[in-house]
Amino acid sequence: MATRTRARQKTRADETRSDETRSDATPQPRPERPAPIVELRGTTVIYPGGHIGLERASLDVHRGEFTFLVGPTGCGKSTFIKTLIREVEPAEGQVLIAGRDIATLSPKRIPYLRRRVGTVFQD
Ligand SMILES: Nc1ncnc2c1ncn2[C@@H]1O[C@H](COP(=O)(O)OP(=O)(O)O)[C@@H](O)[C@H]1O
Ligand SMILES: [Mg+2]
Repeated sequence: MATRTRARQKTRADETRSDETRSDATPQPRPERPAPIVELRGTTVIYPGGHIGLERASLDVHRGEFTFLVGPTGCGKSTFIKTLIREVEPAEGQVLIAGRDIATLSPKRIPYLRRRVGTVFQD
């Protein structure tokens, strides 16, 4: 406990010192958080016949996160995985891998995407 208190006091003192020595008091920009590894933005998938696979799904998965996606049969879990390797393409919204909208990849780049995004299907 005592050690932690001392550590906090030292940090504040350091910040004060660096403010005094800075020529311009403008707050420094913080480094931006890297793009999510996986990002869906309002993604809708419609299968032939008008069956809805996903409807306006949005989520972020960041590097190092361990994420479980759960839901009843037919809620779109497999469809979600299929969007990540462009096995299905959204009718609306985007799928980004490491910040890149995969709809912008040329067809010849898709095998390279699939080498980076490993998937294992239940069958
Ligand atoms: N190839 C397909 N053709 C038509 N509808 C499909 C197809 N694949 C999935 N669907 C429909 O999309 C919805 C989501 O299915 P799916 O992603 O397989 O769900 P989950 O994996 O969560 O069980 C369901 O309503 C399902 O019937
Ligand atoms: Mg499934």
